[in-house]
Amino acid sequence: MTRFPQGFLWGASTSAHQTEGGNVTSDWWYLEHKPDTFCQEPSGDAVDSYHRWGEDMDLMAEAGLTDYRFSIEWARIEPIEGAFSLAALHHYRRMIEGALRRGLRPMITLHHFSNPLWFSARGSWNAPGAVDRFTRYVRNVLGILHGVGHVCTINEPNMVAAFRAIAERGPEALNDGIPEPDPDCAEALIEAHHQARRILNEACPDLQVGWSVAVQDFQVETDAEQEAAEYVRRRQTVFLEAARGDDWIGVQTYTRARLGAEAGQVVRRSPDASAERTLTGWEYYPAALGGAVRQAASAVGTVPVIVTENGVATGDDTRRIRYTHAALTALLEAMDDGIDVRGYFHWSLLDNYEWGSWEPTFGLVAVDRTTFVRSPKASLAWLGSVARSGRLPQAVDAATGAGEGS
Ligand code: BGC
Repeated sequence: MTRFPQGFLWGASTSAHQTEGGNVTSDWWYLEHKPDTFCQEPSGDAVDSYHRWGEDMDLMAEAGLTDYRFSIEWARIEPIEGAFSLAALHHYRRMIEGALRRGLRPMITLHHFSNPLWFSARGSWNAPGAVDRFTRYVRNVLGILHGVGHVCTINEPNMVAAFRAIAERGPEALNDGIPEPDPDCAEALIEAHHQARRILNEACPDLQVGWSVAVQDFQVETDAEQEAAEYVRRRQTVFLEAARGDDWIGVQTYTRARLGAEAGQVVRRSPDASAERTLTGWEYYPAALGGAVRQAASAVGTVPVIVTENGVATGDDTRRIRYTHAALTALLEAMDDGIDVRGYFHWSLLDNYEWGSWEPTFGLVAVDRTTFVRSPKASLAWLGSVARSGRLPQAVDAATGAGEGS
């Protein structure tokens, strides 16, 4: 297959906390400012997408992308427990209408890492009543969702449940692949997803509901196969299996995780010393996307896959194009082998706040953080041209990143 199917979703993703700025009623804002924070820098005004979302959408639509995945911020919508902000709901409704007006199909994420501070203060997902708090929020946003095609209930629940380790050790905990998720938190998230799906399906029968899991391309390099499968199950498979019965499963992949064994314990092997790294320190390994969609598909059965995040932190945009070209090549190979993939969303539209730091730049668009002026990179036009033609060029030119052949 050299062509992507008709109707394939071609988009880019962002999240509210990473782009909007001034998310002062969220737990992440608090985390960024507490005295012993692991964050190197706060999110501050972020890239002011709360006000400049129209510019962001214009850039995507002009480039040829057809879909935009963005999140609505629970902390703004319910800044105090039980008090819902009509102004915040109107804001997100205007964004949905703004996307539709530009011919961009919105995919709405209801929860992307940040919580209202009050929710965290009550014990977050581990507290009794957490699922009810989330479903009350879901019921309160139903009114703004008409015209939306896809809803993602919760972004990377496996990372949310692993967040305790990340909060303690900082983002370097991610070098373990996915730190072990907290089982009670995982159970609450799965229940929250199932209840949210029911509420959404009943209220809006045309909505396609799913959730997005952080899916590593786990490569088992030990004979301890059962233990390795158990390691992967706790970190990933249970969250994928929870999507059986959904309308789609979101796969979010950046690199691979090679599993070995030390003293009878399954461990993630560090990349070889010669391995190429990205600005997050992760191994540059675009082919991971092929392995990840295969692993996801084998866990969810017949549920179609949508790649809801994939990308690379680099200051060299030509490298971004190369990465994306290689990732899409691996995706097409998996589709050739029968994996049902319905769309690809690049992470990220914008250089944005990378959970504690502004250094890793994932964007198709650069943003000047003092003037907020957006500067599209060549990779945006490149991805847009792939979207327009539905074809992947055979190779990318070393100097410019432009396509060669067809
Ligand atoms: C998250 C994004 C994040 C990206 C790169 C995913 O885990 O959903 O919010 O910026 O990976 O680290």
